[in-house]
Parts: sequence; structure tokens; C-alpha cells
Amino acid sequence: MNAKLQKGFVGVTIILIGALVLGSGASPAQSETDHKKAIQQIADAIKNGKGVVAKKLAAKAAADVKDLADLMHLYRPEKRGGFGLEIGLRQLVKMPNAKIGAKFGSLSAAMAEVILAKAPIAGPKGKNPKAWAGFAQRLRNASTDLEQAARKKNAKAIQAAAVQINDACVGCHSIFKE
Ligand code: HEC
Repeated sequence: MNAKLQKGFVGVTIILIGALVLGSGASPAQSETDHKKAIQQIADAIKNGKGVVAKKLAAKAAADVKDLADLMHLYRPEKRGGFGLEIGLRQLVKMPNAKIGAKFGSLSAAMAEVILAKAPIAGPKGKNPKAWAGFAQRLRNASTDLEQAARKKNAKAIQAAAVQINDACVGCHSIFKE
């Protein structure tokens, strides 16, 4: 290899390595992207009134979730790989907005459906599947309320549903989150 060719070769190698490093830094973990896609599909089914399909998809998604924290991570901001639900739902309590309510109602219900299907085995300090299902059902019902309230553009009902949703998050965390 002559000197010129060698220089070119080194340059191309550096560019390739650079692209690899950048690529791996920019994209979230594969499982996270998969969970996100699955939740979006369930939300779409809920939005279209296909409750049975949503339940089936949720059972499959729950089986694919190896670590509950990966699922819960989807509540985080979009720039951290989530749906921005945690902040969005809290905002709705202060500023009930029909557009944001519509965006988050079905997503929140989809999350609830998968959380419900992901009930843990019994543990100490009231950590039993029944308590889990209770919080998950409250979350799901309040999320469905949110979707309907947003459809009717009923600010008061949007706010009430958002409060119920937050209560379900906090209630479950107080028992099940370390
Ligand atoms: C049925 C129980 C339950 C409900 C309902 C629930 N969570 Fe969680 N959540 C958990 C548990 C358990 C953990 C801890 C997971 C772990 O670290 O293994 C957790 C962890 C989290 C985390 C930390 C995830 C991370 O990035 O590490 C966030 C954020 C979160 N939940 C948001 C919410 C929000 C917002 C709601 C309501 C809209 C909610 N959760 C409803 C059980 C629940």
C-alpha cells in the first residue's frame, strides 16, 4: 500500500468508527424501543374501540417485559426514550387541556393494561397480586375516563381523571416501589 492509499484507508476507518459510536449513543436499548412500539399499538387498539385486541396485545407485551423498570421507564420524557406521560399527566391536573388529554388518555390506558397483566407474585408487606391489580385497574379506569373526557372537551372531567391517575401511581408506588 502506498502512503496516499494508506492515509485514505485510515481516514475511512476513523469515519466508520465515529459513525458506530454516534449510532450507539443516539438510539435507546432495543427492548425499550420494542416496548414503546407495543404500547403504541395497544393505545391505537384502545382508541379504535378494540378492547379485546388491546387485552391480547397487552398480555403478549407483559410477557416480553423482563424488567418492570423498563416498562415504567416509558413514563419518562420523550428525550429519555419515554412517552412524556409522567410530566404530561401532572400538567393536566393544573391545566386540563383536551388536546393533551386525548394524546395521553389511550397511551395511559395502554400502560395500565400491560401493568395489569404484569402482576407480581406475592411478597411481604401487602405486596400481593390483588393489591397490584387494584391499583392497575384504578389506573386503567381513570385513563379511560381521561380519554372520554378529552373527547367531550370537558375540562373538569379531564382534571378529575388526571387526579385519579396520579393517585393510582402514587398509591402503587407507596407499596410496591422500593
Ligand atoms: C400497579 C403498580 C404501579 C402503578 C399503577 C404505577 N407504577 Fe410506576 N413503578 C411501579 C414499580 C414497582 C416501580 C419500580 C420498578 C423497578 O425499579 O423495578 C415503578 C417505577 C416507576 C418509575 C421509575 C422508572 C425508571 O425510569 O427507572 C417511574 C418514572 C414510574 N414508575 C412512573 C409511574 C407513573 C407516572 C404512574 C402512573 C401514571 C405509575 N408509575 C404507575 C409500580 C407501579
